[in-house]
Amino acid sequence: MKSSFAVGSESSALAQRSSKAIMSHTRLLLLLCSLAGSTWSKAASTNPRLKLSFSELKARHGLRTHELEHSCCYDTLLLDEERGCLFVGGKNHLASLSLDNISKQDKKIYWPAPVEWREECNWAGKDINAECMNFIKILHLYNRTHLYACGTGAFHPTCAFVEVGQRMEDPVFKLDPAATEDGKGKSPYDPRHVAASVLVGEELYSGVATDLMGRDFTIFRSLGPRPSIRTEQHDSRWLNEPKFVDVFWIPESENPDDDKIYFFFRETAVEGQQGLGKSSFARIGQICRNDMGGQRSLVNKWTTFLKARLVCSVPGSDGSDTYFDELRDVFLLQTKDKRNPLLYAVFSTSSSVFKGSAVCLYTMHDIRRAFLGPFAHKEGPNYQWVSYQSRVPYPRPGMCPSKTFGTFSSTKDFPDDVIQFARNHPLMYNPVLPHGQRPVFLQTNVDHTFTRIAVDRVTAADGHYDVLFIGTDVGTVLKVISVHKESWQNMEELLLEDLQVFKYLSTGNLLCVLQQSCLCTRDHAHDSSPVTSMQISSKRQQLYLGSRTSISQLPLHRCGIYGKACAECCLARDPYCAWDGTTCTRYMPNTKRRFRRQDVRNGDPNMLCSEDPHRSSVLEKKLYGVEGSSTFLECVPKSLQAQVVWTYQKASDTPKKEVQLDERVVKTDRGILIRSVLHKDTGLYHCHATEHGFTQSLLRLSLEVIGAQQADSLSYSWEEEPSEPASHKLWYRDFLQLVDHPNLSTVDQLCQQLWSRKSHQPKKKPPLPPPLSVKAKNHKWKHLEEKRKARSRRTHEVPRAERGPRSAAVW
Ligand SMILES: *[C@@H]1O[C@H](CO)[C@@H](O)[C@H](O)[C@H]1NC(C)=O
Ligand SMILES: *[C@@H]1O[C@H](CO)[C@@H](O)[C@H](O)[C@H]1NC(C)=O
Ligand SMILES: *[C@@H]1O[C@H](CO)[C@@H](O)[C@H](O)[C@H]1NC(C)=O
Repeated sequence: MKSSFAVGSESSALAQRSSKAIMSHTRLLLLLCSLAGSTWSKAASTNPRLKLSFSELKARHGLRTHELEHSCCYDTLLLDEERGCLFVGGKNHLASLSLDNISKQDKKIYWPAPVEWREECNWAGKDINAECMNFIKILHLYNRTHLYACGTGAFHPTCAFVEVGQRMEDPVFKLDPAATEDGKGKSPYDPRHVAASVLVGEELYSGVATDLMGRDFTIFRSLGPRPSIRTEQHDSRWLNEPKFVDVFWIPESENPDDDKIYFFFRETAVEGQQGLGKSSFARIGQICRNDMGGQRSLVNKWTTFLKARLVCSVPGSDGSDTYFDELRDVFLLQTKDKRNPLLYAVFSTSSSVFKGSAVCLYTMHDIRRAFLGPFAHKEGPNYQWVSYQSRVPYPRPGMCPSKTFGTFSSTKDFPDDVIQFARNHPLMYNPVLPHGQRPVFLQTNVDHTFTRIAVDRVTAADGHYDVLFIGTDVGTVLKVISVHKESWQNMEELLLEDLQVFKYLSTGNLLCVLQQSCLCTRDHAHDSSPVTSMQISSKRQQLYLGSRTSISQLPLHRCGIYGKACAECCLARDPYCAWDGTTCTRYMPNTKRRFRRQDVRNGDPNMLCSEDPHRSSVLEKKLYGVEGSSTFLECVPKSLQAQVVWTYQKASDTPKKEVQLDERVVKTDRGILIRSVLHKDTGLYHCHATEHGFTQSLLRLSLEVIGAQQADSLSYSWEEEPSEPASHKLWYRDFLQLVDHPNLSTVDQLCQQLWSRKSHQPKKKPPLPPPLSVKAKNHKWKHLEEKRKARSRRTHEVPRAERGPRSAAVW
């Protein structure tokens, strides 16, 4: 949990005192690292530049949500650009939503499991209300009029064709429950499992468990006119407790006979080191689309199945590599060449000691090279896995029968030694390494794990950027780019945004300074469901997300949020956004407008923004401090990556100097706390934000210090017009009143109430924007309430003027 301003302020003050030294030290380190050929700034990859809460996104940035009645668990999303539909699969329901606005009225199909199946499921020991339902796991576009859908059917997998109109406006959306078919080998039995599948032509390729107990896993081809084909059963060399993640159909040449299907999964490694327990490896598996199985052996089994380890690792400090082996999701980014898409994969670690997630990028070139490399071979149970050095039979296993590479027209014609070799050598010796030999994005020691990824290729003024949208298990989406400096080895990861796309169930965090005033703050507590599905529409510039609780839609960019000055727009380094002379707006590469300023690579406003970069309006405020009491000078930069520097001057014509921090004057994340205000503190305080070598003024605050007695006589008038001293502070009395309000049960509501009250006050400058997000855990709130009781007792006993020097005790 990130602290609000008071907690840990001592150490924060210390940290700030030495921050200058640290800054220059970091620069030096970065320089050294870049010379050594590998840099990534840990700070940059854990602190987002901008963090937006669910309520802000919803109120101001076009976040839309949808929930189906009596449903949940939106694991399956299918994007249909032509019809303009988002098809959604959840518990017992299918829905068709508008891609333009998913909140609009939906078309729904209720598709429950029959009662007898639910009873059987219950007899098998499963929970009738939680598990014995039909969870939709598969949705594909089948033909111009139909979708193909499969669900768990209360541990009785079932599939059906769903009739959809040709266009969004067509009212058809129906499923004939009488015409359902067996979904074994297509959908998982267990709602907690996922199935990976792809529909190619009329055939479905799926990776799934084919039994109730979830022990027999297979890569399976079904539907269509050809006989079904699967992997060898009960052979741990082929598949070993796999968890399938994704499947893609990727052409290999102009000849469709060379087309391959690639499966991404993780499994228990057979070749893992003995004595170290089970280790999980990420895998990529391949099969040929025209595989018909063997003639005498491997009948109706794959003869072209091969798999390789997918590596995503970073060098550790002790010289050994840290591997990210828990593959979570893969996104295929199409390029101009259909045969060579890019594959972005997200991983987490399986280690309980080291927590982290990473994104690695793979090219088809590297994948194909691994499958053309040596086979892994094990002579017998007591032998090690080695690289197979003897003669490999012809045609080489893994090659598709085609005119391109050979003379065989069907796998049924393959010689017996080829089939035997294929059966015994499904594993390649060399792994597939990521492009650049390292992750493109990495986070360690954070309280979340990556779960999903979608990527958008964006044209900016200085080149292409692949913008990564990474879903997490705490209901957030991270928007990330990596900027390559001179080479792949030297790159900078930018965490542009951290977006809370699903509601959290937590509350605000309220902090009371003495018995005088309270402040709504935020922390990092998340309590929201994991992102379980994600689709992106580049055409509509929207992201669609599913979780257990809800479906969300979010625009890919919000350029206006970066500010009202060229420098702010430029510092954002968002490839979607550029300064057009008056505002920060969507960058369109082909428009011939003179005033398009963007610098994603360097983010240097000094070069780009010729107009006075300091022109951006500086907020001015006046604050009263009561002598002997504490006061808080709040200043939160928009960018969480900016460094804040405070300067002070006695009067507007005296020189500015940096604010001296000590025991009494403490710098926090949200501003400066003066613990016991003295008369000499009177003066002008300037808050400046420095980012990427560029400094801008954010706030000019004039502090006036008044005597304690004077304050008491003034307090009446403040209560009538309490806004001036600190526009979104809440007087302690008001706080008590609000807390006792029967309708406000959470601090979140309380803060909302407070802000809306302040903003409705007449004849006032607009208040500062509220803190970016407000939440805290329930227990925290209870704790606060206890304190409140204690304090309110004290409030009655202790006269108001006596509050000053005790401040330290409160913290
Ligand atoms: C989206 O649809 C909802 C429900 O019909 C509506 O309230 C909302 O205004 C729509 N939003 C936009 C941007 O059209
Ligand atoms: C699509 O497939 C369904 C199910 O096989 C079939 O009934 C329908 O006629 C097909 N539609 C077209 C346009 O081929
Ligand atoms: C409190 O909530 C109740 C029911 O939700 C409502 O009728 C009442 O008007 C609310 N009172 C205030 C003061 O908002």
